[in-house]
Amino acid sequence: MARYIILLGAPGAGKGTQAQIMREKLGLPNISSGELFRENLRNRTELGKLAEGFIKTGKLVPDDITIKMIKDRLSQSDCTKGAILDGFPRTPSQAEELDRMLAQFGSKVEWAIYLSVAENELVDRLSGRRLCKAQGHVYHVLNNPPEQAGICDIDGSELYQREDDRVETVQQRIRVYHQQTQPLIEYYRDKGILKEIDGNRSIEMIAENILKEIER
Ligand code: AP5
Ligand code: MG
Repeated sequence: MARYIILLGAPGAGKGTQAQIMREKLGLPNISSGELFRENLRNRTELGKLAEGFIKTGKLVPDDITIKMIKDRLSQSDCTKGAILDGFPRTPSQAEELDRMLAQFGSKVEWAIYLSVAENELVDRLSGRRLCKAQGHVYHVLNNPPEQAGICDIDGSELYQREDDRVETVQQRIRVYHQQTQPLIEYYRDKGILKEIDGNRSIEMIAENILKEIER
């Protein structure tokens, strides 16, 4: 059966970082709703214009817009074997819609991985984060620096800082996470598919722990 694995966690918990590693290890595409929005923003598409105001102020993009974008992405041919979902679902109605969507493919969510990280650590991680312009590969100026400052190790593109990583916007994103996304932890726990992972350790230890848990 196709494998659909969700990464849940606060802003800065390490979803994108781990999705990148899992993609290599599991041979599945990783789909980041945030990265899809940012790509649309860069290309000035209609979708990008709709999402812009929400992203810049640290609010969630409305469910109907987000769900349509993910449905389109999951319908592409590279997702028939499954996908790693980073940042989607983020609300109970997105989670229910994902279940319906996957049921139509004769599939379901296999695991929801919840990366739990101490709140004071999140702000430090986000303020030092850098991303590559070409594909969104994730770095941190202190914790996970590129070999050459400002340049992506993987594709050589330039690194940039996300506009929503300013301290005020980060605090708003964390509030929104508590209000709207945290209920999903119970949603997946009730289904018996939640794996809670201590995200306060090194990137490598976390990756090893996730793979061990999902391959058991
Ligand atoms: P999105 O891009 O998903 O942002 P987010 O959820 O706030 O999460 P982040 O990407 O900030 O954190 P992450 O967990 O991926 O951490 P990372 O691995 O980069 O969404 C952005 C916006 O888009 C939202 O605010 C919303 O507006 C909109 N949106 C997206 N999805 C939506 C949805 N489903 N519905 C509605 N709206 C949606 O790591 C962070 C930093 O820490 C990096 O620098 C990294 O190098 C470092 N790091 C990672 N792991 C470790 C470690 N173990 N130790 C030390 N440092 C580490
Ligand atoms: Mg991310």
